[in-house]
Amino acid sequence: MIASAPGKIILFGEHSVVYGRHALVSAINLRCRVEAKKSREFRIISPLGVTSLDFKTHPYLSFAVKRFCELKKIDGVELIVKSEIPIASGLGSSSAVTVATLKALSEEFDFHMSNEEIFEIAKKVELDVQGRGSGIDPFISTFGGSWIFPERRRVDISFDFFVIRLWERSTKLMVEKVAKLREKNFEIVESIFDAIDAIALKAPESGIEDFEELIHINQSLLRAIGVSSAEIDEMISKLEKAGFKAKLTGAGGGGCIFGIYRGKRPEGSFIVKPEREGVRIEDS
Ligand code: PMV
Repeated sequence: MIASAPGKIILFGEHSVVYGRHALVSAINLRCRVEAKKSREFRIISPLGVTSLDFKTHPYLSFAVKRFCELKKIDGVELIVKSEIPIASGLGSSSAVTVATLKALSEEFDFHMSNEEIFEIAKKVELDVQGRGSGIDPFISTFGGSWIFPERRRVDISFDFFVIRLWERSTKLMVEKVAKLREKNFEIVESIFDAIDAIALKAPESGIEDFEELIHINQSLLRAIGVSSAEIDEMISKLEKAGFKAKLTGAGGGGCIFGIYRGKRPEGSFIVKPEREGVRIEDS
């Protein structure tokens, strides 16, 4: 059985969403495909390598299988992963692989979990691996579309986006860094989170110019909470000089930056489109 799930772009609200604020998030037209085949042993084949259940090389896949086995006992499975989503870049590759794996397992072993059940387990897998998280990534990979999260309000995002990939980084470490800053400067960081919350709520009603202004403000606030860097700031100001507005998306410290695609894209960028469909079964 082959299942696929989309990646995502957090438009506004990364980090503050971990502390109960709103985020605006959209699934994107890049997908991860996972094929599950009944087997007498556990085997994972992905661009990261060929392993058995291996919580170092394939943490999300291995925890997804472990969590599935708690619900339905299986003796083995072969999982083959093919992904269009760059890894460790803030575009939701980890959640897409988790959600697609759960859907493929669920159908291959006639368990037929609903999307709500898949989302709940994928959230547990995210916590198994990262220790902390808002659940926004598993949510959007499961359900697709564009949403104000966590209140589950569907919105219409009519822009395409340019994305520039920087370098890989760890979500876990960036989330821990923000947690430490918040502990030390509680009121200040909470106020920044409130400002980001207001941005996420205002954005869906904004036209293109105002949306770009919000991109600029949110990036400044991400910088304030320490998830940008001198190199990223420099890159963004170069883009601004060339007439683009851009911000980090996801945990920061690297990953990706994005802006609205207005018919011209910066050098080295690619275009992503909002995607309506969440996890689905693919024809083999
Ligand atoms: O893993 P990323 O880069 O897509 O970041 C997820 C967004 C955070 O807000 C940083 C963490 C979370 O769980 O919401």
